[in-house]
Amino acid sequence: MLRFDDRVAIITGAGHGLGRSHALLLAERGAKVVVNDLGGALDGTGASEGPAAGVVDLIKQNGGQAVASTDDISTPEGARAVVQAAVDAFGKVDIVVNNAGILRDKSFGKMSVEEFDQVLAVHVRGSYLVSQAAYPLMKAAGYGRVVNTSSPAGLFGNFGQANYSTAKMGLVGLTKTIGIEGARNGIKANAIAPIAWTRMTEALLPAEFEAKFAPERVSALVAYLVHESCEASGEVFTVGGGRVARVFVAEGPGWRTDDLTPEAIAGNWDAVMAEQPYVLTAADSMKAML
Ligand code: NAI
Repeated sequence: MLRFDDRVAIITGAGHGLGRSHALLLAERGAKVVVNDLGGALDGTGASEGPAAGVVDLIKQNGGQAVASTDDISTPEGARAVVQAAVDAFGKVDIVVNNAGILRDKSFGKMSVEEFDQVLAVHVRGSYLVSQAAYPLMKAAGYGRVVNTSSPAGLFGNFGQANYSTAKMGLVGLTKTIGIEGARNGIKANAIAPIAWTRMTEALLPAEFEAKFAPERVSALVAYLVHESCEASGEVFTVGGGRVARVFVAEGPGWRTDDLTPEAIAGNWDAVMAEQPYVLTAADSMKAML
């Protein structure tokens, strides 16, 4: 069994849904957990101490160790406070699961700047801030595990979610770069793109999906990715309903000429669009252009 004894985990947005499930699973397997949740509504408005405190109570009833944080992770002060809560209660941070999220859906033409900015602030800036606040501790320890929460809506696009899909694809870039920079200090970062039955999706998914898409089926992957035995870094996985799959950003073999003109591109469009053999890294992409 993969255990997390002596590991300290911060899980943002852990008062409900997926984060709550991640917190319960890691605590059940021995981790000391900071349960962070602002306790607001799905659109990010409001705040309450109830959700984070409720999950902490449940973990303690089950014999685990946890502390609550109601800090807003989209602000630098809030992100620092979450990390400080882990240090004060448990002395270190081994694991950060950036899970907090909000929705402000609107069709692209009607989306306000505020709706765009608020969604990026929680998902992207929040994940950057909490990871960065924990980073010096992880570097000093020569060990760290970060999981960011992307979405199929970001990887593939989704009607009415220009803000959310921008944020969720942004997290792929953040994950890959933390993975590259963290490698020399034993820090690994991966992203999940889940589907689960939570307050975020219960109005969208058919009722019979509730059990099949239980959040616990996503938490199993999170637990593996934040375990010390996991070698993967910079990867992205879709997960839900009991299925896990690697998602990769790949470049096709491309088509080249020494006289690239708009007309030449138009005339060789099928070769430009070809998918295989594909290229997986920025270095190989550059090499193919030489
Ligand atoms: P949820 O609404 O149950 O959980 C999100 C939690 O984040 C809430 O408890 C909320 O209070 C908290 N939160 C929001 N803003 C915060 C802030 N500034 N600081 C601290 N906490 C904050 O929704 P769910 O479904 O559990 O979502 C978890 C993550 O998974 C989100 O990032 C979401 O975008 C992502 N996701 C969920 C999918 C699903 O099918 N449920 C699909 C794809 C991605």
